[in-house]
Amino acid sequence: MSIKLTGKVTWVGKIDWELRKFHGEEYSTHRGSTYNSYLVRGDKNVLIDTVWTPFAKEFVKNLADVINLQDIDYIIVNHSEADHSGALPELMRHIPDTPIYCTRNGTKFLKGQYHQDWDFRVMKTGDKLSIGDNEFIFMEAPMLHWPDTMFSYLTGENILFSNDAFGQHLATEHMYNDLVDQAELHQECIKYYANILTPFSRMVSRKIQEFVSLNLPVDLICPSHGVIWRDNPLQIVNKYAEWANDYQENQITILYDTMWESTQKMAEAIAQGIGEQDKDVTIKLYNTARRDKNDIITEVFKSKTIFVGSPTINRGILSSVAGILEEIKGLGFKNKQAAAFGSYGWSGESPQIITALLKESGFHTIDEGLKVLWNPDEENTAICREFGRQIG
Ligand code: FEO
Repeated sequence: MSIKLTGKVTWVGKIDWELRKFHGEEYSTHRGSTYNSYLVRGDKNVLIDTVWTPFAKEFVKNLADVINLQDIDYIIVNHSEADHSGALPELMRHIPDTPIYCTRNGTKFLKGQYHQDWDFRVMKTGDKLSIGDNEFIFMEAPMLHWPDTMFSYLTGENILFSNDAFGQHLATEHMYNDLVDQAELHQECIKYYANILTPFSRMVSRKIQEFVSLNLPVDLICPSHGVIWRDNPLQIVNKYAEWANDYQENQITILYDTMWESTQKMAEAIAQGIGEQDKDVTIKLYNTARRDKNDIITEVFKSKTIFVGSPTINRGILSSVAGILEEIKGLGFKNKQAAAFGSYGWSGESPQIITALLKESGFHTIDEGLKVLWNPDEENTAICREFGRQIG
């Protein structure tokens, strides 16, 4: 399968409808994904990125239907992670002497993964590669998403090949942003940013400023996952600028796990209290043991305040709450408030433990937390509602 994007540029990637987990078991892909590879024809023919390893043979076979492999003059590796470089060893078996254009880190990372001494050509920001009437301009983009990442811009066609940046895990036959369900597209884009790019937001902001200051015309943004941005392509760049700026919506999210429903009742009473206090705020409740962790992280990303609750167990907290707090710590959210709660039967350490973890993760903790002995009675339920009203 291939898709002609312009007279010179063809999509030659793989649509992975079946994918449900990515990065091992770390990232849920409810809507599958695509691995986008692009063939650019000119006086010189260039392949940009490949696909994930399980599809290597299929990719090379399909590519050979589009172009004689010996006619590929250069390969650009914008990012060496296996979902984009996985088919490189199979391809290089056919064309072992083809130069590979990538960053210095790209060279190191490819060697580290595949142990091959291919003909690497190290590119830095501002370096160019002419292919006849058009040329590529390279821009290093470290941490979007690995230290090796770079963008490649094709003059004349006005296309930015941005690799992971501006991508999303969305399998579709219709590879353009204006041809898919807009709500699904938005959800997959914000989930991707929240779960993958949040820690690098400062670098995202700087890179966007740097790219915009070049004043290059952009007709298409071609990322390495999901749809190609052709309808108002800069809309996703503007979204990234917004998301990178300590993003929050008027939303409060309550995360909890529960054993015998006491902490669940606390969560629901807190939600009720918030709702009584503020009719406009979006309130969401997530049982951390039952909901997808990447969906939860997306809701945390959108929230101005989160509540986190767990009953006390073995002087600690339930494992699903501990797990999501570990995830939250790694992502380094900024400019968010938090409060803890939980029920207990005898020792009751959970709110203090959660509060300490939230502080360590950079949240402004509003209170030392609320704990309730056993099942909340009418009085304690009212206290939980008031806790929600006050903090919400
Ligand atoms: Fe899609 Fe960082 O790989």
